[in-house]
Amino acid sequence: MSALEQDIAKILITREQLQTRIADLGQAISRDYAGKDVLLVCILKGGVLFLTDLMRAVAIPHAIDFMAISSYGGTLTESSGVVRILMDLNSNIESRNVLIVEDIVDTGRTLQYITENLRTRNPASLKICALLNKPSRREVNVTLDYVGFDIPNEFVVGYGLDYNEHYRNLPFVGVLKPDLYARPNQSGTDTV
Ligand code: PRP
Repeated sequence: MSALEQDIAKILITREQLQTRIADLGQAISRDYAGKDVLLVCILKGGVLFLTDLMRAVAIPHAIDFMAISSYGGTLTESSGVVRILMDLNSNIESRNVLIVEDIVDTGRTLQYITENLRTRNPASLKICALLNKPSRREVNVTLDYVGFDIPNEFVVGYGLDYNEHYRNLPFVGVLKPDLYARPNQSGTDTV
């Protein structure tokens, strides 16, 4: 067991479960967007592992682009929901079919901000593909068009998700041992 794995209390979603579910999502996206000009927009940094596996599971031609978002005033385990764009898209999305690729939806505030922002650029369509969803934490209403897994309100790391920038490289999604972080609650996102 690696040093990183020793910090994991339990594995929530195994590498195999991730790959099986992502293959299903890729098939659904390939079917729904067949014949369309589709752009996958990865939200950095957490979404990057998901994007690279998802795009290999999508069998139709597509382009990719990236956005980086920063939250203000949060803690290491909780995003504040007050966000700004650190790095914007390279692409013009007007009249294109945009699919946002996100690792986790918690309060929903980050995606609410991103979707409101991208809608002003007049895409042909704007949908969301989220690997992990924590419905119990939602504060604002966001429609998730593709969801990998609904998960309980536990602080998760791995497969792109970090605590203080570590653990993103774990090939599974796991629950971090609680004694490794101060926990005002169990948000599952980490934003300083
Ligand atoms: C996480 C996650 C989402 C957001 C979800 O990002 O990737 O973007 O928090 O939280 P919300 O639904 O409560 O808004 P984070 O700010 O941790 O950045 P990172 O992806 O770079 O780790």
